[in-house]
Amino acid sequence: MDINVKLKPQSERGSLPSDDNQLGFGRIFTDHMFVVDYHEGKWKNARIMPFGPFSLSPASLVLHYGQEIFEGMKAFRQENKKDVSFFRPEKNAKRMVDSAIRLDMEPFPEEHFLTGLNKLVNIERDWVPNSHGTSLYLRPTLIATESVLGLKSSSDYRFYIILSPVGPYFSEGFKPIKIYVEPSYVRAVHGGIGEAKTGGNYAASLLALKKARASGCSQVLWLDAKEHKYIEEVGTMNQFFVMDDIIYTAPTDGTVLKGVTRESVLQLAKDQGYKVKEEYLAIDQVIDGIKNGALSEAFGAGTAASIAPVGELRYKEKVYQINNNRVGPISEKLYELLTGIQYGRIKDEYGWNVLVKDD
Ligand code: COI
Repeated sequence: MDINVKLKPQSERGSLPSDDNQLGFGRIFTDHMFVVDYHEGKWKNARIMPFGPFSLSPASLVLHYGQEIFEGMKAFRQENKKDVSFFRPEKNAKRMVDSAIRLDMEPFPEEHFLTGLNKLVNIERDWVPNSHGTSLYLRPTLIATESVLGLKSSSDYRFYIILSPVGPYFSEGFKPIKIYVEPSYVRAVHGGIGEAKTGGNYAASLLALKKARASGCSQVLWLDAKEHKYIEEVGTMNQFFVMDDIIYTAPTDGTVLKGVTRESVLQLAKDQGYKVKEEYLAIDQVIDGIKNGALSEAFGAGTAASIAPVGELRYKEKVYQINNNRVGPISEKLYELLTGIQYGRIKDEYGWNVLVKDD
């Protein structure tokens, strides 16, 4: 794949805010983006160009029927302050192909995804922030661009990657968050699109998120669609519980996103000697566990949020505190290990970090 590079003049480029505390999440964008179009059966015109608005037909299929998928990834400034590493980027490239297949879109080839990403991030290296808890968030996206109102799969697509220097997803930082258990709306059904990383899943979550926020919570904990009983996913993350010293998370059998952080946390936990089960827990089991002390910790894990301890559950007007609203030792240990590897503080025995290459 040839990539045509057209950069902004140096004098027009932006820079990181002087204080990392001003980063927030996903509000600041770097100077350039990577863009490729699919037309007449071929990916063409791969380019790196100044970040800016697209011109799209108002009839583009993405705008009407939501044929869209995306990925969430991060690049981390390493301990030596010079190198920058991706975290398991091949996993996201592959998952994006799987999401594309589910939404009947043209998949963007994994090797081109990784080449374009490396070239763009290499150009934008100076945008990778330095302090702990910060990173460069990477947002590969695929949209259906054919201009037609009849319901069909698009024949034209645009793949693009934009980059955003970010601080912690939750303003609390690494402190327990409150989550709201949604009793009636559902996120995903078996046979549906819950496993795909597509905007529709997130759009469908917004009304419940509004309810969660109104009750002082930052995320929605989703129950299964059939019985409103089994815990599946939480907001932007996969959910974990520690019950009787076993770490539980829901299996990925169609309704739950196959999180890269989820998989990494499971691996780290097993290698630390913890017992791990990919099994459904019922909300009543969790509440009983909180009441009788069997449930000692809960946390969410995702790319944007990293590992977020959960200190409180709100379910049907009742509030349940977990571990007295304190960060538990297992959440803390897994957070230290995961972020230690990501920032290069701990030796990466797994080969998960992939250095951004000069090219
Ligand atoms: C991520 O964790 O990277 C995601 O894609 C979730 C997003 C809604 C912030």
